[in-house]
Amino acid sequence: MPQWLKNAVFYQIYPQSFYDTNADGIGDLQGIIAKLDYIQELGCNALWINPCFESPFHDAGYDVSDYRKIAPRYGTNEDARNLFAEAHKRGMRVLFDLVAGHTSIEHEWFIESMKTEKNAFSERYIWAGTPWERFEGIGGITGSLNGFSERGACAVNFFSTQPALNYGFAKPDPALSWQIPADSPAARASCGAMIEIMRFWLDMGCDGFRVDMAGSLIKGDEGQKETIRFWQGIRKMMDKEYPEAALLSEWGDPERALEAGFHMDFVLHFGPSYYLDLFHEKPFFSAASGGKIARFMENYIRIDTKVRAGKGGYICIPSGNHDMPRIARRLNVPEIKMAFAFLLSMPGIPFIYYGDEIGMKYRENIPSIEGGFERTGARTPMQWDSTLNAGFSSAKPEDLYISIDPDKNKPTVEAQKSRPISLWHEVRKLISLRMEHEVLQSDAPIEILHLKPNKCPLVYRRGEGKEAITIAFNPSSKEMSVSISGSGVPKILYTLGSAAFVQNGVLKLPGGSCVFLRFSLE
Ligand code: GLC
Ligand code: CA
Repeated sequence: MPQWLKNAVFYQIYPQSFYDTNADGIGDLQGIIAKLDYIQELGCNALWINPCFESPFHDAGYDVSDYRKIAPRYGTNEDARNLFAEAHKRGMRVLFDLVAGHTSIEHEWFIESMKTEKNAFSERYIWAGTPWERFEGIGGITGSLNGFSERGACAVNFFSTQPALNYGFAKPDPALSWQIPADSPAARASCGAMIEIMRFWLDMGCDGFRVDMAGSLIKGDEGQKETIRFWQGIRKMMDKEYPEAALLSEWGDPERALEAGFHMDFVLHFGPSYYLDLFHEKPFFSAASGGKIARFMENYIRIDTKVRAGKGGYICIPSGNHDMPRIARRLNVPEIKMAFAFLLSMPGIPFIYYGDEIGMKYRENIPSIEGGFERTGARTPMQWDSTLNAGFSSAKPEDLYISIDPDKNKPTVEAQKSRPISLWHEVRKLISLRMEHEVLQSDAPIEILHLKPNKCPLVYRRGEGKEAITIAFNPSSKEMSVSISGSGVPKILYTLGSAAFVQNGVLKLPGGSCVFLRFSLE
């Protein structure tokens, strides 16, 4: 297990929208380098950057045409090398995004594969031989590309512009010769090609990958058993050759992903985790929605217990990401502060989506850019200051990748840094608290002290013995009491909202409050 994950706090960057240094209206790698000090000041020590490789951008870069080349709009491979070096100088790590399951239709593998004459890439994709096949009901295949090549229909993973790489089938149908086994030479060749790409970036200084749609590689894979075996093989390679590099999956099912050898997996807006209950749909942290957190926490504890008893790995809770509405859509600023107090005091590894630290808005119904559709509203340019384009770019406003939030009162980094009570300062304070107390970091155990279905408050303890910290949240508008054990007068490490206090073993939590306590043990 890479040691640096023990206190990692990630910052996710959507490179298009972070910071533009050459006035072409789109963010770039030099822009990320220029803002590393900012990210460090906030307290994050690791980055995940969405795909920045050459691509026709039918899905914002999740359709790669050259895995070994930084897209010119973001810069050069030399810029990537510098980014790794500059991050390392600051003790920060950088994960790139590995789109392992599919390529773009412009990738040279696909161009070769489309040809009717047999060649080295003929089986790199899944071709049904007839143009009419829709691949319905085959797990892992989400659609088809029909009539695009004389070879017939090709399986796709997401949009039709994202043909699925062929890693084989868990149980190939013997009547269909195009369903090859996962251990056949062609399927192994796809795997080998992906490993070479990983080595290419890791050798340059990259610290690992977030793997896109990691659970979907092997098709028709009930229970994802073959896909799990596949990644276990990759992990073996990583342990041997790059033991300090980290693998993070977009699986949305940590139980399976960590079993597959990933060091980290997200709870997400899809999958079995109830993540949406936290910050998104009827969120627990909203006073108005009266949300529920019990099923999230119960499921979390179940997986956490299982993972700790097994080979380990981390559950990652994101504040949001480029695929879902922002946290500010359903929560107001005090509520977002409390959501961050939760995110930054849970075990595993927290992920902050760029702009969430200032409460950037989810912009409803803006035009789709590069296959973003409703996701576009969560991908708008970072708001740095009150200058042209909120300081994101000096291009003409109409030339920006996505337009800036027109709201005059929109949050900016500059304004929030100058106000000590801002969300930005709260997030910074919470990260620094986590960095100061090992029991708030990735590994320390969690124990639930109070959790009732459909009710506040939520109380848990991190760590054991002398160092343990008790954390309580009451997002509702009413005062709540809960009896807590612990001797002596508790020391208050952190509070939000009206001050909570302990009297005769009872913790009184005013509406909208949160507290971190430590009992002094004699
Ligand atoms: C993942 C990405 C998403 C992309 C899709 C297809 O879910 O996060 O943005 O569109 O995979 O690659
Ligand atoms: Ca630029």
